[in-house]
Amino acid sequence: MLHLLPLSTLLLLRSVLATPRPSPAPQALPLLIWHGLGDNYAADGLRSVGDLAIDVNPGTFVYYIRLDESPDSDKSATFFGNLTEQIASVCADLAAHPILSTAPGVNALGFSQGGQFLRAFVERCNVPPVKTLVTFGSQHNGISKYQICLPNDWLCKTYIGLLRANTWGAWVQAHLVPAQYFRATNATTGEPTDEYLARSNFLADVNNEREVKNATYKKNLASLDKFVMYVFEQDTTVVPKESGWFAQVNTSSGKVTPLRNRTIYTEDWIGLRELDEKGALEFKSTEGRHMRLDDEVLTDVFEEYFSPAQGSWESLQKDAQGQLEL
Ligand SMILES: *[C@@H]1O[C@H](CO)[C@@H](O)[C@H](O)[C@H]1NC(C)=O
Ligand SMILES: *[C@@H]1O[C@H](CO)[C@@H](O)[C@H](O)[C@H]1NC(C)=O
Ligand SMILES: *[C@@H]1O[C@H](CO)[C@@H](O)[C@H](O)[C@H]1NC(C)=O
Ligand SMILES: *[C@@H]1O[C@H](CO)[C@@H](O)[C@H](O)[C@H]1NC(C)=O
Ligand SMILES: *[C@@H]1O[C@H](CO)[C@@H](O)[C@H](O)[C@H]1NC(C)=O
Repeated sequence: MLHLLPLSTLLLLRSVLATPRPSPAPQALPLLIWHGLGDNYAADGLRSVGDLAIDVNPGTFVYYIRLDESPDSDKSATFFGNLTEQIASVCADLAAHPILSTAPGVNALGFSQGGQFLRAFVERCNVPPVKTLVTFGSQHNGISKYQICLPNDWLCKTYIGLLRANTWGAWVQAHLVPAQYFRATNATTGEPTDEYLARSNFLADVNNEREVKNATYKKNLASLDKFVMYVFEQDTTVVPKESGWFAQVNTSSGKVTPLRNRTIYTEDWIGLRELDEKGALEFKSTEGRHMRLDDEVLTDVFEEYFSPAQGSWESLQKDAQGQLEL
């Protein structure tokens, strides 16, 4: 019935239909960043990483994960605290956040221990859902040695002394963070020790190493679009550095058993095999010592993994709509 409309209306209609409407640039997904041991969420170095993410993908909303609004307390929580409670507190913060809670998906970047904690967030909560998780120098398969202190760093020495003295004690497991991702194996069999399996307050659980596996952990981790793990080639802080790829290292011979040769993968305890089989698991390395990151590496990561072309606010909402209609 178009021909019955007045000519002016027809002309207007035609011009509206003919003018290509400027399609708004797709909105980048928010980015979660979780810092490492001894750092805090407000530190300049960390902020410059977030600023770079925004330079590369304009409009990115960056959220710096914190255990406390006070930077000093947030830093102290990287050393002291029960990881079960810390991760639950992050889950509650993110689920209640005015912007993040409305996002159809987010990306996540974890530095050092922040990497395995973000993975735990995915496994246990994943609200908002993480699309791409990138970790740098993380301790996914735990550590077999505590970090060595500088010669005159007495505070560090006292702290490490406490860790060493009683790693499997209930107090240490409930209060000292690195003890909760320490992993002890039997030198002959390579199997995790009974003490580790019984007492580890974090790692044995999130890696589903105990007899009873948590199916939610596997389902959530396997739901990632991509999980990218970077190891620092000259890392001497994380022992063994291959932990960043979930590899197991024989501490006396130095022999590395890669993830794909381990039971956690072959029996797919946490969804890593499923990710790998859909081409979503990446093992990357970068030059340098622990956390010596330059802007070039980060820029590549932001372009390759966090750009709106990989997943944007609109594309995910459309996907969700499509699923509802099915
Ligand atoms: C598995 O993990 C989910 C998410 O953290 C939790 O709600 C659930 O209670 C766990 N199940 C078991 C059997 O521990
Ligand atoms: C850590 O906190 C959780 C939750 O409050 C608690 O169930 C668990 O026993 C604590 N861990 C240790 C080693 O005390
Ligand atoms: C390591 O495993 C072997 C073989 O099962 C066992 O004989 C030995 O006692 C274990 N060592 C320790 C320290 O548990
Ligand atoms: C680790 O290496 C040592 C020394 O080469 C060897 O005796 C031991 O059997 C190895 N352990 C495992 C679990 O392969
Ligand atoms: C890993 O498994 C493959 C295939 O089963 C085998 O060929 C390879 O030697 C193993 N590598 C290591 C380091 O154990």
